[in-house]
Amino acid sequence: MRTGYSPVLLAVAVLFIFSCNELTKCGEKKMSIKKQSFGKTKDGKNVDLYTLTNANGLKAEITNYGGIVTSLQVPDRNGDFTDIVLGYDSLDEYVKNNSPYFGALIGRCGNRIAKGRFTLDGVEYTLATNSSPNHLHGGIRGFDKVVWNAKQMQTDEGPALKLTYRSRDGEEGYPGNLSCTVIYTLTNDNGLKISYEAETDKATVVNLTHHSYFNLAGHDSGDILKHQLMINADHFTATDEGLIPTGEIKPVKGTPMDFTKPVAIGSRIKQVQGGYDLNYVLNSSDGSLALAASVYEPKSGRVMEIFTTEPGIQFYSGNFLDGSNKGKGTVYNKHDGFCLETQHFPDSPNNPDFPSVVLKPGEKYTHLTVHKFSAR
Ligand code: GLA
Repeated sequence: MRTGYSPVLLAVAVLFIFSCNELTKCGEKKMSIKKQSFGKTKDGKNVDLYTLTNANGLKAEITNYGGIVTSLQVPDRNGDFTDIVLGYDSLDEYVKNNSPYFGALIGRCGNRIAKGRFTLDGVEYTLATNSSPNHLHGGIRGFDKVVWNAKQMQTDEGPALKLTYRSRDGEEGYPGNLSCTVIYTLTNDNGLKISYEAETDKATVVNLTHHSYFNLAGHDSGDILKHQLMINADHFTATDEGLIPTGEIKPVKGTPMDFTKPVAIGSRIKQVQGGYDLNYVLNSSDGSLALAASVYEPKSGRVMEIFTTEPGIQFYSGNFLDGSNKGKGTVYNKHDGFCLETQHFPDSPNNPDFPSVVLKPGEKYTHLTVHKFSAR
C-alpha cells in the first residue's frame, strides 16, 4: 500500500498558503490595491488610478492627479453597491472640463482669502484672485491640479494610498517650501480615512481639505435635497455677500442654518440665498477626532458620518452645479451633490481671532478626517 501525501493535496495546500499574502487575510474577503494608468498630463507626467478594495468589498478609486477620489462604491441597506461621488471617467475630463473640484485635495489654503491678500510676519503676500475678487482653494493651480507622488500601502486598517507633494516657495504666491503627505485609507470598518501632514521651511499658511461631492443615493440619482443632515455645530462664521467671513461667529439657533438635529437639506434651503455655502464652527474644537456631521439618505438607507480633528466644516449644497458638468454618463445639475469640507475657517489669514492656520518651520500640520459608511 502506498503511504505519504497525495501530490494533488500538497499542491492545493501550497497554493492556499501562497494566496494568503499580505493583501489577503485568510478567511476574509479579499482586500486589495491595484494600479492602472489614467493617462498623461499636458506636460507629459504619467498619472495613475488606484483601486482600493476593503475586506467588505467597498471600493475607492483615487488618482494621483489632484488626489482625486473619482468613485466610491458603498452598500445600501440591502447590500447593493453604488458609486456615491460625483466625478468624471477620464483624466482628460478632469483637466479640460474645469472641474468644480470634484473629489479633489485642496491646498495650500482651502476656501476663500479676501482679495487674495494676507500679511504674515509684516510681509504682505499676493495670491491669485481666481474667484474674483477673492482667492479660492489655493489658486489657479492648487493642489487639486498637480500630480502627487503615490505609494501603495497595505496597513492593518486596510488598503491605503500615500500621496506626497512638495509645493515650492512662492508657488501660487504662498511663502515657504511646503512638504505635504496625504494618506487615504479604505478601512475594513468601512471608513474612508484621510490623514494630512505638512511641514515648511518658512512661515506660511496651510488649510488642507478634501472636496468630494456626495450623493448617497448614487452620483447619478438627482438632487440631494431629501438627505437628512446633522452638523454638530451651534455656531457658524457669518459672511458678506462675497462669502468672506465678517469675523462674526453667529448662533445657528432659530435660523435655517441649524442642523444640530437631523433635518432634510431641502426643507429650508429656499430661505438661504443661493443655497447653503457656509462654514460651521464645530462644537468640538480641542483637536481630538470628534463627530462633525452625519447624513442619512432615506431611500437607500445609506449613512455617512464624518469625524474630524479640524475646528470647522464647510457645508456646500452644490449651488453652482448648472448642468454644464457631464460626468460618468450623467449630467450634474444644481444640488445633485453636497460637500462637507473639514477645515480651518475661511479667510483665517486675515482673521486673527480665528484658530490659526500659520505653520512655522519645525512645526507639523496634522489633520485627520474619517468618512464612515453604514446603512439602516
Ligand atoms: C467650496 C466653496 C464654494 C464653491 C465650491 C466649489 O465649497 O465654499 O463657494 O466655491 O467650493 O465650487
